[in-house]
Amino acid sequence: MDDRILLRMCKMSGHELPFIQEAFEGEWVVPLGPNVTGFEKDLEKFLGTDKKVVALSSGTAALHLGLLGLGVEPGDEVMVQSMTFSASVNPVRYVGAIPVMVDSECESWNMDPVLLDNAIADRIKKTGKKPKAIVVVCLYGMPADYDRILEVASKWNIPVLEDAAEAFGSSFDGQKCGTFGTFGALSFNGNKMITTSGGGALVCPDEESARKAMYYATQARLGYAYYQHEEVGYNYRMSNISAGIGRGQMMVADEYIAHHRHRQQYYREHLDIDGISLHENPGVKFDSNFWLCTVLIDETLRVKGEDKAYSAAITSTVGGAGGVTGVGNSIHTDCEPNRNVEAIRLGLAEKGIESRPLWKPMHKQPVFSKYPSYINGISESLFHRGLCLPSGPYVTDRDADRVIEAIKSLII
Ligand SMILES: Cc1ncc(COP(=O)(O)O)c(C=O)c1O
Repeated sequence: MDDRILLRMCKMSGHELPFIQEAFEGEWVVPLGPNVTGFEKDLEKFLGTDKKVVALSSGTAALHLGLLGLGVEPGDEVMVQSMTFSASVNPVRYVGAIPVMVDSECESWNMDPVLLDNAIADRIKKTGKKPKAIVVVCLYGMPADYDRILEVASKWNIPVLEDAAEAFGSSFDGQKCGTFGTFGALSFNGNKMITTSGGGALVCPDEESARKAMYYATQARLGYAYYQHEEVGYNYRMSNISAGIGRGQMMVADEYIAHHRHRQQYYREHLDIDGISLHENPGVKFDSNFWLCTVLIDETLRVKGEDKAYSAAITSTVGGAGGVTGVGNSIHTDCEPNRNVEAIRLGLAEKGIESRPLWKPMHKQPVFSKYPSYINGISESLFHRGLCLPSGPYVTDRDADRVIEAIKSLII
């Protein structure tokens, strides 16, 4: 590695190799096998749950199958946290349902329970029908306020699908995220707390629902000697090789989570800049994994290079994970981070330090803006002011010092 500091990248521990070796030797190079079942058991143990875990090809697949498990059908409405990554909402459209975006509360940055309650009442009034599910996200690893969210969900008797993609190892009141909803989705993408090089899992309430999820993940194939299908299915299973990587990662999961919490602690102790505040656990029940350490930057803070922020269009992917992105056709959109935030991002990038704006709320995304939304202004305000700082297992105390010094040097 050069001396660039990336936002977050997973790290191989070496413990993965024997599992992969074994898979090769046993010729288990298919989307089932001992590593898959072993990984599922490891996850159940880690989560401390009697629920059944099904390993899948991605967290997005897990969310899709979770919606199917809840019986969400075309035309149904699904309440979704607006402040999130698009993968929380896209699967709602895969099943032909209508996403109804709900804004955040400022403590956890996750779905506002009061707004959710009002929004459900309003949907019923407007459509005569109860929303079919609630998708709650634990953003940047921060648990949602489950006491209050589950109270609203049970008041209306609407099931919860938990998007815990970023919250592996986080807990609320001692219970692990991913186990609160009827279904829970985990991600093992290459930037998550642990990785399978790309993968996910669905936490299911029981054997029967796990079996059903696996059936859909296996092209909805029925039990005949030949291929018989009565429903549309998907190819969503996890490969035995990927699961082998996952098994090795599970051996260091606690260490990685501790590293993230240490990173947060370090920023807490050393990032002492007026006008910049670190997002913290908002109460004793919240125990974030701090998958990403995030800050809010006061709009009155003056930063070098603000006049040049947004002077050029982005011509490459922002971020280490990369991949193929479409081309934006303007320098500005109608909702973007404040100039001082963009100036810090650009200033850090010049010093080889990757940082990134917060997730842009879904109700501000052109692809979803036509759907109903219940907005209190919090998610937009967070997006204007927020920045994610380098946080992964490669980020050392020295790197964090460099990040802090670089930010300080940018403040006027
Ligand atoms: C909040 C959130 N939900 C869902 C996903 C989807 O996970 P995956 O990339 O494994 O499909 C991600 C991450 O990519 C995420 O950050």
